[in-house]
Amino acid sequence: MQDEHTPGNDSGTSQDQLIQGHTYDGIQEYDNPMPGWWVWIFVGTAIFAVYYVLGINVFGFINTYEEDLDESLAQLATIRSEHAAAQPAFTVDEETIGSYVGDSEKITAGAASYATVCAACHGDVGQGLIGPNLTDEYWIKGNTNVDIYTIITQGSLEKGMPPWEGAFSPEQRAELVAFVRSLEGTNPPNPKAPEGEKIES
Ligand code: HEC
Repeated sequence: MQDEHTPGNDSGTSQDQLIQGHTYDGIQEYDNPMPGWWVWIFVGTAIFAVYYVLGINVFGFINTYEEDLDESLAQLATIRSEHAAAQPAFTVDEETIGSYVGDSEKITAGAASYATVCAACHGDVGQGLIGPNLTDEYWIKGNTNVDIYTIITQGSLEKGMPPWEGAFSPEQRAELVAFVRSLEGTNPPNPKAPEGEKIES
């Protein structure tokens, strides 16, 4: 093989071929092969491109973004409905809430919630402060389980009681009902004067 090195150029080996006719401003170029690893990566990307285009556009064995999204949303819907089925929605009726009333665990849990937010207005033991006395037999809003649950859930904005629907789950509100019920007849010191109608329970 002929050595075509130009004098004074000491890079390249004796096997390197200069590309003929490629001289720009005196700069010449060897006709060296690309490194093997580089060529294989390049070939790999070309093969992958064909595989990907066929897979996504022609044969459909690769999912598009929308297909992946639909699939995941369907999975999510299944998980949600399974979860909902496993945990039936809380039924607001006398019987369901009544099952909390008198249950000491529920009352204790309700008392803890009461101490955090209700005591400020109804007094630490329900004797009444800004809000009415919860220990007497007089009720402004009625005294069925559902009545008490409803006032806790919706509040009475015009009279100054905020709604607690967002702050407590239905179960926690039923615990509060159980606690409120447990207060009746406790005769705390310094009770607030009765408000509302007397309802014998
Ligand atoms: C910002 C003060 C305030 C807070 C906090 C508050 N309440 Fe009240 N609550 C009131 C007022 C005022 C009324 C009277 C509403 C009316 O007359 O319409 C009331 C009424 C009630 C009644 C009805 C009493 C009746 O005689 O019919 C119940 C039960 C009750 N609250 C429970 C609670 C519970 C449980 C909490 C905590 C989750 C709570 N309240 C938090 C102010 C408050």
